[in-house]
Amino acid sequence: MILYFSGTGNSLYAAKKLINENERLVSIAELIKKEEYDIELTDNEKLGLVFPVYFYTVPTIVREFLEKADIKNSDYVYSVITCGGGTGQASAVLKKILLAKDIKLSYFKELLMPDNGMLFYQIDTGDKVKERLISADEKLKTIKEDISQKKTTLTGDSSFSASLLEKMYRLCSKTKKFYAEDTCTGCGLCERNCPSQAIKLKNNKPVWKSETCCKCSACINRCPVNAIQYGKQTKKRNRYVNPYL
Ligand SMILES: Cc1cc2nc3c(=O)[nH]c(=O)nc-3n(C[C@H](O)[C@H](O)[C@H](O)COP(=O)(O)O)c2cc1C
Repeated sequence: MILYFSGTGNSLYAAKKLINENERLVSIAELIKKEEYDIELTDNEKLGLVFPVYFYTVPTIVREFLEKADIKNSDYVYSVITCGGGTGQASAVLKKILLAKDIKLSYFKELLMPDNGMLFYQIDTGDKVKERLISADEKLKTIKEDISQKKTTLTGDSSFSASLLEKMYRLCSKTKKFYAEDTCTGCGLCERNCPSQAIKLKNNKPVWKSETCCKCSACINRCPVNAIQYGKQTKKRNRYVNPYL
């Protein structure tokens, strides 16, 4: 089974490449919506956790799910964390979350993919994005082979302070800077795509009803008419959605 979380499709793309026939590919956001926290694995079934890194740590939505989840019969647990630059403390944080539930993380790899962090800085488009996707494909083949052999490797820990990063993440998780411009067509895609269930359409326009969200940036990156903005800076910035989503 692979449990995945993805805002703009990179991690879903990676999970689809890693999944074998007859294996289950399950969305963490969907499980949260259905309030399903019981994960029962069959004998020898591997558990994969695939998601993006945010602020060099584990996205709040993934952390909250794992902390609540009752995972039974986990034999070999691996994780692939997608990133635009580096995963920092994410694997160490994940290891700790799992250990608190008596689950051992056996294998971790970070996967460099196109960066979707346009809330904070300008992001690449065009050839640079294509190059990243091609090299990610190559790395995914090796990772899939490693997992099939149940290899054990943990790489990617860094010297960043996890608690400082968590603080920064919490500070940046406020939704008040999001708004929709008049070009918004009221299609409701942002509401449907929001894994934090933070958006509600009101008079045919999105309203951020929750004070915070996991900051996946699906709303802004996946708006079909680029009507969503975050403060003053994002008007000039590129959007990113995995082309295979
Ligand atoms: C809020 C936010 C924070 C991010 N923080 C990091 C980071 O700390 N390090 C990094 O390399 N990439 C960072 N990224 C980039 C994403 O991790 C990367 O593009 C990822 O592949 C997106 O996955 P997805 O398409 O499955 O959502 C961040 C993106 C967002 C939206």
